[in-house]
Amino acid sequence: MSATTEATALTLSLTDEHLALQKAVREFAQKEILPIATEFDESGDFPLETIQKMGQMGLMGIEVPEEYGGAGMDNLAYVLTMIEVAKADASHSTIVSVNNSLYNYAIMAFGTEEQKRRYVTPVASGEKIGAYSLTEPMSGSDAATMQSRAVLNAAGTHYIINGRKSWVTSGPVANYIVLFTMTDPDKGHKGITAFLIDADQPGFIRGKKEPKLGIRASATSEIVYEDYAVPVENVLGKVGDGFKIAMTVLDAGRIGIAAQALGIAEAAYEASICYARDRQAFGGPIGQFQMIQQKIADMKTRIEASRLLIYNAVQAKERYKQTGSRYTMEASMAKLFASETAMFCADEAVQIHGGMGYSKELPVERYYRDARITRIYEGTSEIQRMVIARQELGLR
Ligand code: CAA
Repeated sequence: MSATTEATALTLSLTDEHLALQKAVREFAQKEILPIATEFDESGDFPLETIQKMGQMGLMGIEVPEEYGGAGMDNLAYVLTMIEVAKADASHSTIVSVNNSLYNYAIMAFGTEEQKRRYVTPVASGEKIGAYSLTEPMSGSDAATMQSRAVLNAAGTHYIINGRKSWVTSGPVANYIVLFTMTDPDKGHKGITAFLIDADQPGFIRGKKEPKLGIRASATSEIVYEDYAVPVENVLGKVGDGFKIAMTVLDAGRIGIAAQALGIAEAAYEASICYARDRQAFGGPIGQFQMIQQKIADMKTRIEASRLLIYNAVQAKERYKQTGSRYTMEASMAKLFASETAMFCADEAVQIHGGMGYSKELPVERYYRDARITRIYEGTSEIQRMVIARQELGLR
């Protein structure tokens, strides 16, 4: 029996703690993030103040134990937070996602006690910003083909890193980075190693900031390493385990992007419901027309299906903690479906709003631009389909 045909009962339910968190994040997002979303989208500035406030609320280290500066909650709490933040502003949720499910998660899962204390605590509490850096100009989907190099010095004390990384989310502002680079090119993906990088050391050069279509307040840049010396103590996990660490962490990250996509889809949907009730045409509200109703029904159905796939992935990740059985496929299915749902809902929202959907006077055009990245980063829709199909066909 294949993995997809095995019945897995969804037993997820929100505890009082989850409901209280959801309410607190919703109130914060609607009161503090939504009013500044358009301004930051236009300026492209990094919203440091609100990110720091979210850090004080524990939202920059939701699953990180309290002793390391986090909130000590679970993956469902993270997902609920991502949905509420993304509903107000996708840019903010991108920053939340990288700090939580890529940066913190990598170190909590693979780091030493000293690494957790030094690198997770300031990021989980929102004082510092973390980033995750895998992609290079010539190595995106085919992540194992990276050209950057780390060479151990003669004394055996430091690796010297040279190369160029691209599309680093929070790259222009990050204090610390989980970096993947090649230590033994002859070994292919088994020659990749993960390092913990301090941005304030010589040889760390922030490259050009990307001018982007959407999530414009989430800063993205290249990072260039020129003879950057990283101490051997900063190897994350084992030398040569970098690719597996990168992939394991992306499984967690993809659940976060799915939740972000669901938040964008919900925002687009709720705006559409209001507009379909209010906007008058041909003698009544446009919601009375079947062609609008079809859009509403399809949006709602895909949103709820996305939520179930996300909850399914959350459950699979919780099971992984007990069994060690990977949740790669569940995460990919959630990310694939939710990101395509976000795009579908944002597009239909523009259509329902007509000219007003195309105008910058309403946030609907921002949802449309912001939704687009969810089908690209942390693995394109095509890569997610490849991951799912390979697993079902027993090719990996
Ligand atoms: N968990 C653990 N191990 C995994 C894994 C996973 N999810 N997926 C693969 N592996 C392991 C395999 O078991 C295999 O191990 P062995 O060598 O022991 O057999 C090894 O990794 C190699 O696996 P593959 O042969 O399947 O690797 P591949 O080269 O064919 O690539 C891929 C697989 C799925 C296409 C992968 O390259 C991939 O996910 N690409 C997309 C990368 C991506 O998402 N990039 C986005 C980066 S982050 C970003 O967007 C920016 C940001 O700042 C947010």
